[in-house]
Amino acid sequence: MIMSENLIIKGESKRELYENLLPQIKSLVEGETDVIANMANISACLKDTFNFWWVGFYRVVGDELVLGPFQGPLACTRIRKGKGVCGTAWQEAKTIIVPDVDAFPGHIACSSLSRSEIVVPVIKNGSVVAVLDVDSEKLATFDETDKFYLEKLVDC
Ligand code: SME
Repeated sequence: MIMSENLIIKGESKRELYENLLPQIKSLVEGETDVIANMANISACLKDTFNFWWVGFYRVVGDELVLGPFQGPLACTRIRKGKGVCGTAWQEAKTIIVPDVDAFPGHIACSSLSRSEIVVPVIKNGSVVAVLDVDSEKLATFDETDKFYLEKLVDC
């Protein structure tokens, strides 16, 4: 069997886990030009490392976000600009941390088990081309550490 890629999960803290994950993702994506393939592997690496409930991408296609590669339960396929956490992160071109999804007006509940969320825009040449969405089945999972590293990650 040929194993060309092995993810090494190492670290005691969230910060250490991200510190070890980021260079691996960087080397994984830098040799591959296909965006979908890279989004697929990034989703898998995040799921494996943190066991997030749902992690994946929505791509900007015309005037909507369309579901891209993800890991987790099935999700809604299309989100309009300004709608939900994803559509808001797209519109504002900034990361949104939602500690309690029930307290976010207009949150789109793809899964009733999702309790908190972070959405990070993927910006290329000044425009949002996609968003990275991570959901947790626990409240207040995401903080400035996730924002810092996930923003670095989508910039890889
Ligand atoms: N909750 C998101 C929708 C996507 S799913 O969580 C996978 C939102 O409000 O935009």
